[in-house]
Amino acid sequence: MTTNHVLVSRDGAVLTIIMNRPDKKNALTGAMYGAMADALASAASDTSVRVVLITGTGDAFTAGNDLGDFVDAPPTGGDSPVIRFLVALSSASKPVVAAVNGLAVGVGTTMLLHCDLVYAGHSATFSVPFVNLALVPEAASSLLLPRRIGHARAAELFLLGGRLDARQAEAMGLVAAVFDDDRLVDEALRRARALATKAPTAVRATKALMKRGDESVADRMQAESELFRLQLKSSELKEAIQAFREKRAPNFDKAT
Ligand code: COA
Repeated sequence: MTTNHVLVSRDGAVLTIIMNRPDKKNALTGAMYGAMADALASAASDTSVRVVLITGTGDAFTAGNDLGDFVDAPPTGGDSPVIRFLVALSSASKPVVAAVNGLAVGVGTTMLLHCDLVYAGHSATFSVPFVNLALVPEAASSLLLPRRIGHARAAELFLLGGRLDARQAEAMGLVAAVFDDDRLVDEALRRARALATKAPTAVRATKALMKRGDESVADRMQAESELFRLQLKSSELKEAIQAFREKRAPNFDKAT
């Protein structure tokens, strides 16, 4: 059953998406991409969702696109489920946390370039062997991976189809931290919950600033100051300062 291949659940303000096809290493079918795109769309439109967490069941995050689908049901256009998923993920204004619980092949790795906080279990591995299948990189990874880990290392991964282990991925800045496999999801969820308590407009504006393309220092400072000025006038700031004065944790639920 396709519907069980993607599990969506809520934990307070955190919406969790679980790739759940462990017998196939969570390889992603069109139906799974569609379900994940729908989950991201519902997270975007539901104001009570502050953070999205993505992880997988079993010993794989995902082995990438289902290879059978490449032959039987290749994506055809801009409204195909895989494109809907990638567009929803890459344009998500709310923060996305990934907990990479095992092997991450192809889109399993490239989707991480669009996530904001990426954590991995010790057994996680990362590879982008598109060329081995006579394919080319997707999800803007030919731009984003060299930018993230450097051209030389990205070229080795893309062209030779090698894999990184979790520690290498951490050292290269692909993941923020590595945890024991059995603690990974709890650690990621703890951080997702913490992120969900922060001023949501400020979080989204910070994410948007970090995702802007190359520009001059002057242009970036200008963009930052505009957002900074907006936040200075926000109810979020009032709540943060009031909470500081009252020596309590801020509550941004009513401050947006
Ligand atoms: N699409 C469809 N099925 C896949 C799959 C994929 N991308 N990746 C794994 N599977 C299936 C296998 O066919 C196997 O199914 P079976 O039990 O019915 O034979 C099952 O998942 C388990 O995979 P297996 O190969 O036995 O596990 P492994 O631990 O030895 O190897 C991988 C795991 C991921 C290294 C290996 O399966 C692989 O290379 N898969 C292809 C990955 C890929 O090229 N993805 C696309 C990148 S663009």
